Amino acid sequence: FLKKVCTLTAAVSVTAMLATGAAQAKNFKIAVGDSGGSSQEATGLGFKAALEELSGGKHTATLFLNGQLGSEQDTVNDAAIGTLDMSLLAINNVTPFSPTVGVFSLPYVILSLEDAETLTQGPIGAELTENTINDAGVRIIAWTYTGFRVLTNSKKPVESVADLQGLVIRVPKNEIMIDTYKSWGISPTPMAWSETFAGLQTKVVDGQDNPYTTINAMKFYEVQNYVTEIRYIFSIEPLIVSEQVFQELSAADQEIILEAGKAATAASAQFLRDKEAEIKELLVEKGMTISVPENNEQEFIDLATAAVWPKFYESIGGVEKLNAVLAAIGRDPV
Ligand code: MLT
Repeated sequence: FLKKVCTLTAAVSVTAMLATGAAQAKNFKIAVGDSGGSSQEATGLGFKAALEELSGGKHTATLFLNGQLGSEQDTVNDAAIGTLDMSLLAINNVTPFSPTVGVFSLPYVILSLEDAETLTQGPIGAELTENTINDAGVRIIAWTYTGFRVLTNSKKPVESVADLQGLVIRVPKNEIMIDTYKSWGISPTPMAWSETFAGLQTKVVDGQDNPYTTINAMKFYEVQNYVTEIRYIFSIEPLIVSEQVFQELSAADQEIILEAGKAATAASAQFLRDKEAEIKELLVEKGMTISVPENNEQEFIDLATAAVWPKFYESIGGVEKLNAVLAAIGRDPV
């Protein structure tokens, strides 16, 4: 009997191996919202290198930079229906399809890279990944840590909420971010990321916010003069895979994708730690003037947290979800 079981087990594993071996080699197409030199690209290259190594060269990946495959929000739809394999995009552009990830865009919740790593790599990140599969048909397999979104504009130094008045600021099509600027007394202009450089260049809008590494990669210094170091959102940018594409892979290949994702996350954190300070200096050399908000940004913080947090408790899954996030990073509950 034992011999029979062993033979059967061997036959099953040979079949499994053949199935794995026979699975088609694949070149995963990855849409990337940002240009070369960005944090998103660092994640994408980290993923590609790990994928090729872990699959022994069987699978590879091609990055399509700079929104070539469509606006970030459009790529979520394309991945959901399986016409696109993967996309690297800002979490704020996933929120319209899976509102609970909005907890990562609530102003002044994430206060450091370490907070971002703790949240994304722990049980909260796992729960949000599950939610995006169910809500949006995409699975988060890696996290890019891009740093705090700082405010840029072409007109004047901004140090206070009063200074902001009169500026036309582009924001992603994201309700949380729109409401944050409203709490500061201005009505921002929602615009797709892929249209933002042109919007700034043609002066349809005066300013926008994004992290230093993104501002540099996208050459915004060519059309923006002033930076304000607001720290309302620490930008997190997931690598998502179409759940349909993922489910078509063998179990072994799924494992490779998930492992390559972990390597990509690590590559992104390393890129930020190595590059952010240097890139900030580069922007000053390119002529940008950096201001720090007065009184440690207290007015920005008070207005945004009071108006925006309660408004989004329901969409993020209840105030208890925010409290779980705050507890995970050692902060008091609301
Ligand atoms: C946005 O502002 O829409 C995104 O944060 C841009 C990005 O992906 O870098």
